[in-house]
Amino acid sequence: MSKLSFPEGFLWGGACAANQFEGAWNVDGKGPSVPDMCTNGSHTSPKWITVAHRADRLYPSHEAVDFYHRYEEDIALLAEMGFKAFRTSISWSRIFPTGTESEPNEKGLAFYDRVFECCLKYGIEPIVTISHYEMPYALVERFNGWESRETIGLFMNYCRSIFKRYSAKVKYWLTFNEINGGIAPLGALLSTGTIRGYEGPVTEIPDDPQSRFQAIHHQLVASAMAVKYAHENYPHFKLGNMNVFAASYPLTPDPDDIIANQKQMNMFCWFCSDIQVRGEYPHYARRFFEEKGIDIKMAEGDREILREGTVDFYTCSYYMTNCTTTHADAGVSNGNLVGGCKNPYLKSSDWGWQIDPKGLRWSLNEIYSRYRIPIMVVENGLGAFDKKDEDGKINDTYRIEYLRQHIEQMKEAVRDGVDLIAYTPWGCIDLVSASTGEMAKRYGFVFVNKFDDGSGDLSRERKASFYWYQKVIESNGAEL
Ligand code: BG6
Repeated sequence: MSKLSFPEGFLWGGACAANQFEGAWNVDGKGPSVPDMCTNGSHTSPKWITVAHRADRLYPSHEAVDFYHRYEEDIALLAEMGFKAFRTSISWSRIFPTGTESEPNEKGLAFYDRVFECCLKYGIEPIVTISHYEMPYALVERFNGWESRETIGLFMNYCRSIFKRYSAKVKYWLTFNEINGGIAPLGALLSTGTIRGYEGPVTEIPDDPQSRFQAIHHQLVASAMAVKYAHENYPHFKLGNMNVFAASYPLTPDPDDIIANQKQMNMFCWFCSDIQVRGEYPHYARRFFEEKGIDIKMAEGDREILREGTVDFYTCSYYMTNCTTTHADAGVSNGNLVGGCKNPYLKSSDWGWQIDPKGLRWSLNEIYSRYRIPIMVVENGLGAFDKKDEDGKINDTYRIEYLRQHIEQMKEAVRDGVDLIAYTPWGCIDLVSASTGEMAKRYGFVFVNKFDDGSGDLSRERKASFYWYQKVIESNGAEL
């Protein structure tokens, strides 16, 4: 029987991450995380990471949009839109302030009890990212983040604590947000924490692929260990990966472009998920490492752990696509962690990310043919400048259009036979941008009165997209 639309029980919702929306960076025993050491910036002036807080700079994660104190109001708004699921993350340094304590911070644990209880009260399923682009900053200082094997054991202490505490409240877990983000140079800051001692613009972090790939190996092992441990101890849990799916197309039919694009797709879009879903390093990685002079140190037993800790479902973020070419005359384009060259058939967002709804259908088909496990699109959306119209409302028709086109293509993918089970667009409540540290790049259905200079009373307002998405959910995607 053909499935013509979204299946019954489809998890419509939205996504946020602790460091970008909780604020309360040093409240109730929380320790500083990597993003807590980052200043604000914009897409023309990069944010900085500093080794100590500087009085002359603004650190947007410190207050962010204060979800920590406003979670009840925020979750009520999500419930009003009819959310079935809410993807959020736990801040590691709220639970283990320096990452090395032997006992978890009770006040931190209690906060997420309140958050998950509030979600469940409204029938909203929490989808929890264990590590979303933040780690205790102390682990950067001590171990250079994930470059050290020690971090795996500390991460497992954290996982054991949160699995135990929330076993009755959370069923869906994602191990690392955009684990392949570490493949891109900016991933050293966002994901692998391999930035010990560095202070300066995040765009000028010295590039060190050896340390990033060693760190990614440790994250992959840690992810597999967490999955294996959860499967053995909490059989009702479902564990997923999380990958940036920044698809690219060959710019021309020149066979050199086809090969260059295949290499790009292999090492950026497939490498991590091939390991997390299939349980082993893919064949193409060997040559890549050889040519780049990267030597990954594996401990005895790592291959076995990777084999035994494969995920139950696949998740990704999807915002944009790029093209790859070997021809020198192609225009350059920005993107989520990786850029590429311009596609003459696509338009770009204000931040230069190329908007490609049909690419989502193509990507979902590629992913499903390769892995044959359920898929969640756990991030998607348009980062845009929002402003109030004369009637005082935020008529974000551009955002509605972006989301509508992407949902239409997800529907096509479902009709193609893809087992898609959830959609949680990014930043459902406005929050701080991960790449640029600004508030001006907004994604939400809910506007937050907070601006880049730190001003604003943090009040919440429903945008036009709020009411539109409410209808989408109510009609299970029939009314777009
Ligand atoms: C993803 C991240 O890369 O994209 C999020 O998982 C991030 O944390 C989102 O916020 C959008 O990127 P940006 O840079 O616009 O915030």
